[in-house]
Amino acid sequence: MTTLDKSRVFDHAVEVLKENDRGSYTVPTKGLYPFQWNWDSCFTALGQNYYDEDRAWTEIETLFEHQWPDGMVPHIVFHVHDDGYFPGPDVWATGRPTATSGITQPPIAGFALRQLFERAKDRTAAERRARELLRKIDKWSAWFYANRDPHGEGLVAILHPWEAGRDNSIDWDEAFERVPTEGIAPYTRRDTQHADPAHRPTKAQYDRYLWLVEHFRKLGWDNSKLHDASPFQIVDPGFNAILIRGCADLAMVAEALGESEIATANRARAEKGLAALDRLWSESHGQYLCLDRTTGNLVDSASIGGLLPVFATIPAERARAIARTIERMGERAKYLVPSHDPADARFDSKRYWRGPVWLVCNYLIVDGLAAAGKTAVADRIIASSLELIQQSGFAEYYDPMTGEPLGGGRFTWTAAMVLEFLDWA
Ligand code: GLC
Repeated sequence: MTTLDKSRVFDHAVEVLKENDRGSYTVPTKGLYPFQWNWDSCFTALGQNYYDEDRAWTEIETLFEHQWPDGMVPHIVFHVHDDGYFPGPDVWATGRPTATSGITQPPIAGFALRQLFERAKDRTAAERRARELLRKIDKWSAWFYANRDPHGEGLVAILHPWEAGRDNSIDWDEAFERVPTEGIAPYTRRDTQHADPAHRPTKAQYDRYLWLVEHFRKLGWDNSKLHDASPFQIVDPGFNAILIRGCADLAMVAEALGESEIATANRARAEKGLAALDRLWSESHGQYLCLDRTTGNLVDSASIGGLLPVFATIPAERARAIARTIERMGERAKYLVPSHDPADARFDSKRYWRGPVWLVCNYLIVDGLAAAGKTAVADRIIASSLELIQQSGFAEYYDPMTGEPLGGGRFTWTAAMVLEFLDWA
């Protein structure tokens, strides 16, 4: 690797973040994603915090201004009109004052809140702003367990691949065979006009994404009905781990602010979730797997979703096994961490979530591995991440075999994560 010019990379990352800043929210990248995305914004705030603490809080506050009355926080907020993205507000038709999508995304807000709170220099502002957000994030957590865990198992289901944030993962292939495509309205994709179609989901997958959206729309986006009515109900270990960690972090902030009821409720959610998560462990894969709630079976697909639980406080032997699994992947892939096991015949090094490296996932895994004392693997992932951006710029994702930049360019969350990695390197 060429020597790292930290200050140049830092300035470049800040430039990307500022370029995509729309005042009170940040777009993931120009063109491909012209609105506010839920988990992107929470990661973005961590980056903004390096140069503008006030702006970082605003990023998350803006997202939560669009929380639904039932507690859900949507995956997209359509702040402005833009025909460059499909499916837009008219397809979702959620009837919100500012248009939003009708599904959610990985709840990284609890973790981000704790980070902003603990790192804040302006303590008075941080306490005031954290207290406000605390209530809203707690309401979102409660929403998850009420609507996505109807039998009180301690684990929540996603009802659409977009909720996982890993849109076309191999994890969904089997369940997608049960999702019909008949009757969907004719449509024109926009994503493939901004990025290489070979690096994006297929038409067969898009048809199913849209069937699910239309199905939920016909049910009036009534969250008390959607779970049971969905042919796609997947318990994703990564998603649940993010929720569990979020609840645990929320409890810490609540404790510090003297909000003991919120602290107790979220600690209990995290403990129950953590115990339940172990059901998803696969000894043969050395990682967690998705559970298909409609069949009751684990999904035989070794994706990054099953490595992300290291981000929650999983048992030490599980964290050690995950570190070994990642080391094993490193024997085949030049750059860590591929979003799918390169030894699997279905691995595709360029197609979105079926193989490429994503820096946000690297970040969550590094955080977890470091906490578990697996610093050698964590350091290797940090080095890989910084090498990728030096070689290929701030891309949306990267080919783990060649390092080639893929998808959109000048990407916000990639830049935000680079600021974090520089801080750790
Ligand atoms: C893609 C990703 C998703 C992300 C969004 C905006 O849909 O799969 O995780 O939130 O783009 O960057």
